[in-house]
Amino acid sequence: MSRIVTLDEFILHNENLQTSSTGKLTKVLRDIGVAAKIVNREVNKAGLVNILGIEGSSNSSGDMVQKLDIFSNEKMIACLSNSGEVAAIVSEENEELIHLPKVKTIKPTYLVAMDPLDGSSNIDVNVSVGTIFGIYQITDPEADITDKSFLQKGCEVIAGGYVLYGTSTMLVYTTGNGVNGFTLDPSIGEFCLSHPNIKIPSRGNYYSVNQGYYLKFDVEMRRYIDYCNDLNLRLRYIGSMVSDVHRMLFQGGIFLYPNTRKYPHGKLRLLYECIPMSMVVEQAGGKAINCQLERILDISPINIHQRATIVIGSPDMVDEMENFVKRYSLSEIT
Ligand code: AHG
Ligand code: MN
Ligand code: MN
Repeated sequence: MSRIVTLDEFILHNENLQTSSTGKLTKVLRDIGVAAKIVNREVNKAGLVNILGIEGSSNSSGDMVQKLDIFSNEKMIACLSNSGEVAAIVSEENEELIHLPKVKTIKPTYLVAMDPLDGSSNIDVNVSVGTIFGIYQITDPEADITDKSFLQKGCEVIAGGYVLYGTSTMLVYTTGNGVNGFTLDPSIGEFCLSHPNIKIPSRGNYYSVNQGYYLKFDVEMRRYIDYCNDLNLRLRYIGSMVSDVHRMLFQGGIFLYPNTRKYPHGKLRLLYECIPMSMVVEQAGGKAINCQLERILDISPINIHQRATIVIGSPDMVDEMENFVKRYSLSEIT
């Protein structure tokens, strides 16, 4: 049996390998790990809310879903406030950016964009949810932190990852040097390295898209989905991006959230859904583009809650989708 490597040990070890490392990112990643354990504990109690009479629970499950969103948001913010290394947070749950209080004389280095609870509509039916995070560097240490400080391309982001609260709880992240996955061992309360150096298969048997919107997709997207059907690919769609992308990361496949009539620019958020998940997938050897065929990590964001379309997954399948769309658009013109 190989020796157990905890998340803390792994982060610290990797920090020591980098001569330029200051240990600041280590603190932020550790704080995310702590928040993930607290959120996990609460997510696991979701079904018990009415039995346990948790404060303010009332008896509406819809209410509980909202509470877990807010709970996760609060815990993430509280944990990210610990180190003093994070100046501000952009969260799906807050319209405005959140400035964190100063800790002693520490001058913060980072900004965090996060979706504290992804797939929250799944909570009350005991289906997997997640947390997504991206860690951004403060590019101008002298300037005030504003929305503009967050408007960086994904390729400039320092670290990205997610936590999946599934049949087991996993934290998967990258600092731009490969992707590693850690599984929470509840008996010791530690995330343990379980999936080192994750590589996405070049192809897979799955495609993942909300096919209920088929008639609302652009024609080339409809044709591509028909093509997936022709190939006998299996459709899997949980409605929690973290869970859908996680499956694809290990088994290969393609995940799409194209523009619809309701969401003409796509539904998913660029800063705290598309960019961190694209970082992870690219670092594992996959690809991520939008429906205009631009690399997600090359998009210059123009606002903090911006939405984007996304096609992400196994490299050969994303290439194929891209060629398919190009060919189809061309045949439309000629
Ligand atoms: P959130 O729960 O953070 O609002 O995110 C839900 C997102 C994403 O996780 C998922 O892939 C997508 O919304 C599902 O949307 P549809 O129900 O429109 O398919
Ligand atoms: Mn989400
Ligand atoms: Mn969310």
